[in-house]
Amino acid sequence: MKFFIDTANIDEIRELAVTGLLDGVTTNPSLIAKTGRPLFEVLAEICGAIEGPVSAEVTATNDEAMIAEGRKLAAIAENIVVKVPLTWDGLKACRALRARGTLVNVTLCFAPAQAILAAKAGASFISPFIGRLDDISQDGMQLIRDIVQIYRQYPHTIETDVLVASVRHPLHVVEAAKLGADVTTLPPKVLRQMISHPLTDKGLAAFLDDWGKTGQTILKPKVAE
Ligand code: G3P
Repeated sequence: MKFFIDTANIDEIRELAVTGLLDGVTTNPSLIAKTGRPLFEVLAEICGAIEGPVSAEVTATNDEAMIAEGRKLAAIAENIVVKVPLTWDGLKACRALRARGTLVNVTLCFAPAQAILAAKAGASFISPFIGRLDDISQDGMQLIRDIVQIYRQYPHTIETDVLVASVRHPLHVVEAAKLGADVTTLPPKVLRQMISHPLTDKGLAAFLDDWGKTGQTILKPKVAE
């Protein structure tokens, strides 16, 4: 499973990129707004910091304007993926941008039927929002299960990757991985939470304590007398 990071904060992206675990970045208008910085400046910095796909979302609502915005965003860097909403205009824009060779992420997916349409429109990625479904007491993970199952029926015609979005906690990542989702986009906080386990901390402390009592070091071992 690939890991994207769901933020437009360049400091956080750089800090987490050094782990070598990041395969890409997703942004949206809300995340860009949160930075308080100009869109093109932020996206250019992110594309320079990460080799993988960087999703940048259009804000127009009609297809022609979405295509124009998408072309402008795609010109920022080769790793830009244009993000369009799951509307009829968004799907038209998706098809047109894909025909030009631009990668497209179709976002705001909340139903399997929508995911089928996005695949038909040639989407490179479909972004089902699981946390927002959980928020309204619907099973977000069931949506991933359904989409993965549907897409698997057409391995030779559907080339759309399932990109699990609106992730709230590490269990979402685990469940999505068990279902074989292609990508999960993680808020930085969730990526950091994934490594935490009290028994890891406790076990490491005990190992180091016992080792310290021996007075030995690995790099400068004691020579036997
Ligand atoms: O980037 C899209 C998605 O991940 C948003 O998540 O937390 O705003 O529901 P959230």
